[in-house]
Amino acid sequence: MAAIILADTCISLALAQPAMKAQPFRKTTSRLWSLSKFCSSLMNVRGQRSYGTEVEKIGERPVLITGCDSGFGFQLAKHLHGKGFIVYAGCLQKAQGKGGSKDLDDMKSDRMRTIQLDVCSNEDVARALDHVTASLKNPEAGLWGVVNNAGISTFGEVEFTSMDTYKKLAEVNLWGTVRTTKAFLPLIRRAKGRVVNITSMLGRMASPARSPYCITKFAVEAFSDCLRYEMQPHEVKVCIVEPGNFIAGTSLYSSEGIKATAEKMWNEMPETVRQDYGRKYFDEQVAKMETYCQSGSTDLSPVIESITHALTSPSPYTRYHPMDYYWWLRMQVMTHLPGAISDRLYIY
Ligand SMILES: NC(=O)c1ccc[n+]([C@@H]2O[C@H](COP(=O)([O-])OP(=O)(O)OC[C@H]3O[C@@H](n4cnc5c(N)ncnc54)[C@H](OP(=O)(O)O)[C@@H]3O)[C@@H](O)[C@H]2O)c1
Repeated sequence: MAAIILADTCISLALAQPAMKAQPFRKTTSRLWSLSKFCSSLMNVRGQRSYGTEVEKIGERPVLITGCDSGFGFQLAKHLHGKGFIVYAGCLQKAQGKGGSKDLDDMKSDRMRTIQLDVCSNEDVARALDHVTASLKNPEAGLWGVVNNAGISTFGEVEFTSMDTYKKLAEVNLWGTVRTTKAFLPLIRRAKGRVVNITSMLGRMASPARSPYCITKFAVEAFSDCLRYEMQPHEVKVCIVEPGNFIAGTSLYSSEGIKATAEKMWNEMPETVRQDYGRKYFDEQVAKMETYCQSGSTDLSPVIESITHALTSPSPYTRYHPMDYYWWLRMQVMTHLPGAISDRLYIY
């Protein structure tokens, strides 16, 4: 078994190396370009995907990002703006004058355009589409990219989780992604542009006490794969970014949020479940979650660079895995080895 894991690790590491490193891009001279093409063809023989260089004249290409009030979305908006993109930064709390939109507006740049965008609202999405279409310099040239980043999370075992919670997460993470993508696809098709969906390592491997989140992220993976196949003839590239643990660097969880969720969950749980599991067990699970919410990397750059690669490389990867080696190896084992082995190694 050790030999299988070792072989799997070596093969997967070789394949994943470029995706983990999603490098910044530099303009190349035509000679360097030819050289890199030659090298990449050699690398392809070894089964690796080539690093791309920046698409021609990335310049002021327009992109829409959802969920820019905090976390990856907020940083990405600033990063892409710095690279010269015209950024439409969708913010959930813009209308209330809260969240990241204020900071982004304070940049006072014509290329940083914040818009009110709740991905669960048909009206917000329709208004955002009208706004983007009307403000594009050349609507016929379309919109270069949509980054479906908005998301929420929670925790709790299946028996602890209400149907409302399952639906709430799906409404944002899954249907929000589908709604936004469908609305903007005609513009993206015109640009022969990019759709970048932020899922998670939990969109590839499941975890106990995370079912409401996992099912939405697995679903977005499936949606993205179907869309990628459909968009291939239109020369639209669809990429998936599967971040690992960056909890400490984002607002996905907070200690107060976990406490509030736990209290609500306990109060709404069926009496039989409360009695069978008991408060002691429940509190232990909540405490584990509170520890988890302080874990992870505060450096979001691997995720930001992966998304940037997906938006700028002539040959972006299908999946990006910005995560540390522990989670990367666990994900490879969980997704490539038989469940009987991976469950025993990581779950039981
Ligand atoms: N952090 C991680 O470790 C991690 C790992 C894997 C995947 N991800 C994924 O990365 C994405 C970004 O999350 P993050 O980690 O950066 O957390 P975050 O800081 O909480 O950012 C998520 C953003 O989505 C926004 N949002 C929530 N509901 C929305 C809605 N209905 N419409 C529009 N925007 C909405 C939030 O707005 P408010 O702040 O105004 O509520 C927030 O700005 C999510 O899809 C998440 O699942 C995160």
